[in-house]
Amino acid sequence: MEAIFLPKSWNVDQILEDLDQHGFTLIDDAYPHNYIQALVAECTANLNHFRDAAIQSGVMTKIRNDHILWINEDLEHAQQHIDTLKLLSQQLNRHFYLGIKEVEAHFACYNAGEFYALHRDNPQQKNDRVISTVYYLHEDWQADWGGELRLQDKNEQWHTIQPKPNRIALFQSDLLHEVIQAKQQRLSITAWLRSGQNIF
Ligand code: OGA
Ligand code: MN
Repeated sequence: MEAIFLPKSWNVDQILEDLDQHGFTLIDDAYPHNYIQALVAECTANLNHFRDAAIQSGVMTKIRNDHILWINEDLEHAQQHIDTLKLLSQQLNRHFYLGIKEVEAHFACYNAGEFYALHRDNPQQKNDRVISTVYYLHEDWQADWGGELRLQDKNEQWHTIQPKPNRIALFQSDLLHEVIQAKQQRLSITAWLRSGQNIF
């Protein structure tokens, strides 16, 4: 098995400081080009296996209408991203005593017109999601294509985050956020760093 290291573009000190000050951070240019290509190929080859994302309230009012595919060991490139997030989790645990033990992830595809309404990933601390991460893996994104992540930081300031290719948005799972309706196909991996059963 290949040794896994945190990519050089991941500035751990900055990540820790941003999380401490704002409860969220952005990692741009997260991965090298050859890895992105492999990941995009793996994602698009599996698009026909994506299923409607589950959360709905009531019969007709949808909270989200994107499509997802849970990631397991068969998706080897996506798995490498999860392994990298596990390494980062060790640093977060060391610094903030977060007790992260597990990473759970799915690909998500928002086709034109799809969105995810205002929500928290860990409402009332009902699950063990501690940190949420979203990696954007479409190859291009223009400012007028919608699909922004709107996030309220821990100081209650709102941020509008472009889903820039090769960017990771990382935030406390208890923060309020939404995905604005996309006008083009928007591809991502959402991964949650969880304090669940021990896997390290
Ligand atoms: C989620 C989510 C944000 C995004 O999957 O829970 O809020 O920018 N995603 O895709
Ligand atoms: Mn969310």
